[in-house]
Amino acid sequence: MDFSFRHHIGLIALFKILYVAVAQTNYRNISLGWSLTAFDDSASWRSPSGDFAFGFRRLENQNLYLLSIWFDKIPNQTLVWYANGDNPAPQGSRVELTTDGLFSLTDPGGEVIWMPNSSPVGVVYAAMLDTGNFILANYYSSNVWQSFDDPADTLLPSQVLRVHRNVSARTSENNFTRGRFELRLIPDGNLVLNTIALPTGNAYEAYYWSNTVDAPGGMTGNQLIFNASSGYLYIIKTNGEIVNVTSGNIGQTFPTRDYYHRATVDYDGVLRLYAHPRTSRNGRWDETWSTAWFTPNDICSAMMGERGGGTCGFNTYCSTENDGRPNCQCLPGFSFSDPNNKLKGCEQDAFQKCNLEGLRAEDLYDMHQLNNLQWNNSTQYEELISLTEDQCKSSCLYDCHCFLAVSIEGNCRKKKLPVSNGRRLEGRSDRVFVKVLNSDISSRDPNTILNLGKTNQATFSLVAALLLGSSGFLNLLLVAAILVIVLRSYGGRTKLRKLPSLLDTNLRTFTYVDLKVATKNFKEELGRGSFGTVYKGILQLSGSRILVAIKELYKISQEGEKEFKTEASVIAKIHHKNLVRLIGFCDEESHKLLVFEFMSNGSLARYLFGESRPKWGKRIQFAVEIARGLMYLHDECSTQIIHCDIKPQNILLDDSFTAKISDFGLAKLMISNQSGTLTAIRGTKGYVAPEWFKNTPVTAKVDVFSYGVLLLEIICCRKCTDMERQNEEEVILTEWVYDCYTERTLHKLVEDDEEARSDMRQLEKMVMVAIWCIQEDPNVRPSIKMVLHMLEGVVQVSAPPCVSPSPHGSIS
Ligand SMILES: *[C@@H]1O[C@H](CO)[C@@H](O)[C@H](O)[C@H]1NC(C)=O
Ligand SMILES: *[C@@H]1O[C@H](CO)[C@@H](O)[C@H](O)[C@H]1NC(C)=O
Ligand SMILES: *[C@@H]1O[C@H](CO)[C@@H](O)[C@H](O)[C@H]1NC(C)=O
Repeated sequence: MDFSFRHHIGLIALFKILYVAVAQTNYRNISLGWSLTAFDDSASWRSPSGDFAFGFRRLENQNLYLLSIWFDKIPNQTLVWYANGDNPAPQGSRVELTTDGLFSLTDPGGEVIWMPNSSPVGVVYAAMLDTGNFILANYYSSNVWQSFDDPADTLLPSQVLRVHRNVSARTSENNFTRGRFELRLIPDGNLVLNTIALPTGNAYEAYYWSNTVDAPGGMTGNQLIFNASSGYLYIIKTNGEIVNVTSGNIGQTFPTRDYYHRATVDYDGVLRLYAHPRTSRNGRWDETWSTAWFTPNDICSAMMGERGGGTCGFNTYCSTENDGRPNCQCLPGFSFSDPNNKLKGCEQDAFQKCNLEGLRAEDLYDMHQLNNLQWNNSTQYEELISLTEDQCKSSCLYDCHCFLAVSIEGNCRKKKLPVSNGRRLEGRSDRVFVKVLNSDISSRDPNTILNLGKTNQATFSLVAALLLGSSGFLNLLLVAAILVIVLRSYGGRTKLRKLPSLLDTNLRTFTYVDLKVATKNFKEELGRGSFGTVYKGILQLSGSRILVAIKELYKISQEGEKEFKTEASVIAKIHHKNLVRLIGFCDEESHKLLVFEFMSNGSLARYLFGESRPKWGKRIQFAVEIARGLMYLHDECSTQIIHCDIKPQNILLDDSFTAKISDFGLAKLMISNQSGTLTAIRGTKGYVAPEWFKNTPVTAKVDVFSYGVLLLEIICCRKCTDMERQNEEEVILTEWVYDCYTERTLHKLVEDDEEARSDMRQLEKMVMVAIWCIQEDPNVRPSIKMVLHMLEGVVQVSAPPCVSPSPHGSIS
């Protein structure tokens, strides 16, 4: 009796434990030892409601990641916080709450990229809260650090900004480096927006301030509070007074029950409050972020400072659009320093020299007249009184310091470069004259103009002059010294270590245990191919840690087993820019593994068939690079290597997006006799040449066939078979291309690809080359060398013969 009663209690206890465990799977705080790794589809930590997530986000078109927090339920998953905008993390970086209670972001080599600024200790758990705040808490559940205390460019409802904290804009929409604009609560109690000088961060005069000087005797300073129910930004003074710095009926128009809110210092310097519906309507998101309020209303006029670049940077003029956005323009004779970021100011197209002998100023310069521009009164170096417009104009023309003159009410204000804070205002009576080098002169007499982009040439001529002017021995010394400097400056810049050069000659052997450790017991799979499975690993080589890709081969043929070592050393000797390099191998009984250099940008397949299609020019480059790699294998190795499995999954991209062929030389290990009775391996469906299925010898032309299919995929950015296609004739790429080619409707292949459509001649040439490659008869196909010659325009491409589309290309 007694026993069964205890048994019963035990069951209840067990049930309770199970129940709790189940309840907790919905949401769990982040415990010691938890981590996330930066990869495309890496996991994130979500808040209990799922509104916010914490994790890694990849930067557009780069293989770099931001540790960040974002709205997880809305389609564009807007970022609200990021830790490492100035220092994005490479793929494979990790954020970890260590068992010692430290929280940090480290790169794949283990170096710290970011840590919370207060270096909190004794953390026992972390949590992503429903407010969008990520916290680190100690044993007593008090927050030792929170993302709300260390904002990026955004504040969220319920967030508080204290004195000395700031919110910094990013550089541009997709560049998260700290930008020039910031929102601060300064010690006198004012909330201000100001520009800063980069990289020091020195603040220029504010262009917005809240007029909320702290009450006398205030000790702790004002606080800025983003009220979660009303949607307003309030300043609470130390005497308890509350000042609303926003206006309008934000809470009524965008009730917080239905809308997410955020306040962001945008990269254009405007502070905006945004609202976004929390849920979609009938599955559709008609609205995205609406601007509920913004300040300043007219950012261009708000910036009255005498120094600094102003809203648009130096040598510009600024006008504010209706929605508060600044519109930046360069002064005549100037171009944007960065055409992709018009807030970075403008640079002069050509330097103006002061005294050019024999040439008169009026022959050298044109004076462009502009109207409705305004500068701060005191940014001139000289002000002359009682001058007519014409006198002012010529006063500037003949003054070699003068670049710009403003004639206003009989006064002539002359300015030097660079000019700060130019604004466009309608209805101004000033006349502005800008001195611009005459275009005739700049083309006629290049010696008088030092083009800005040519500073390198200047350094070079300096070096040349030094060399010419000294003796032979000194020359040698100089050359050596310059080499040392150049090499040093290159060496010093590479942060992630490259392969040590001694690997060039030495093929390494690794034990299975080595590789097990390097891959953390084969934890992270990078992909599976025809020959084996690839894992990511980190190896300690010659004193540095390098990232590698380790391929564990599937069972190989008996002959292959005997030949493994020989083949590995053959592969290891093959060095070409467009071929992935083998670093070493492991050959222990059944364990056959190959260690390759790691390609940080993944496979061409991922890039080509991913969301944003690579640029047309880049695609042409891929086609040429792959052909070069293949030509090396076919024609330039001591024994010819037939790849047998050319496809986009086997083309990898390094950190500068150079295409490299992987998996070459492996086919030989899998089959007994390259030119005969092979069935074990026959490449991948869709890319295989017809002779694999016939009783004809397999030659290097099988690779040419596969290359042809790949080339079409590169042209069209689609897979060789695509069952999703609405039109049945488009399902098989080779057939569709051939139809379009014969019907002269090649534009259909690149329907929504502006770039390719504007380059139809190149496109037609590439299609013709591809059709040559996929000829049924291998003897008709060109060699890869010829393919390369055709692509590079060395030989003319003639019209390809009619193909009968291969039955094996079809989907059976
Ligand atoms: C998670 O953290 C919160 C504090 O942020 C705490 O109240 C809660 O008890 C924790 N939950 C678990 C399951 O540890
Ligand atoms: C982002 O902006 C910074 C600062 O202007 C610049 O140095 C950096 O090259 C930019 N990054 C990219 C990827 O454009
Ligand atoms: C937020 O605003 C509401 C209504 O204006 C007010 O009742 C509440 O006290 C405010 N909350 C905070 C934390 O200031």
